[in-house]
Amino acid sequence: MQYKTQSEQNTIVFALNLAKKFKGGDIILLFGKIGSGKTTLVRGIAQYFGISKHIQSPTYVIIKSYKINKHVRTNKVKQLIHIDAYRLNTQSDLEELGINELICDKNNIVIIENPGRLFTNINAKYYLRLVITEPEDRNIDITIDN
Ligand SMILES: Nc1ncnc2c1ncn2[C@@H]1O[C@H](COP(=O)(O)OP(=O)(O)OP(=O)(O)O)[C@@H](O)[C@H]1O
Ligand SMILES: [Mg+2]
Repeated sequence: MQYKTQSEQNTIVFALNLAKKFKGGDIILLFGKIGSGKTTLVRGIAQYFGISKHIQSPTYVIIKSYKINKHVRTNKVKQLIHIDAYRLNTQSDLEELGINELICDKNNIVIIENPGRLFTNINAKYYLRLVITEPEDRNIDITIDN
């Protein structure tokens, strides 16, 4: 499926709607160049789950975890995990950071920016590719793997 957004706010609204479908254990991969809107999408998803903390690309920290309040939990989701894989190089990086455990936990929704080759064999459900077409326009291509 192809979508087009024409502003940052548009992308937030798109993400709010997409997040309604998410269930515990879902893995979402975000592809796209710098500034294409990957973190903006995560902001919209976080907003849907009632997370009020400001979301930034976890470029240096690699992983950020956000607790989801009981009253806004859907499908038993307890945590939103936001990973930026840009600085990850090897399988042992994944082990050291406990990423495999986070991914296997059905209480988590895991979103990975810049998944790269380390995550090519992962069992992801949503693949989103963002492309900058105009300064304020983004094409968003979604593949859902059932
Ligand atoms: N339609 C749009 N959707 C999303 N962001 C947009 C749009 N139009 C303009 N922008 C701007 O593009 C930038 C997107 O930044 P964002 O941090 O979300 O990108 P990113 O893909 O996460 O980048 P990085 O690879 O550096 O983490 C923001 O400055 C935002 O205001
Ligand atoms: Mg980002």
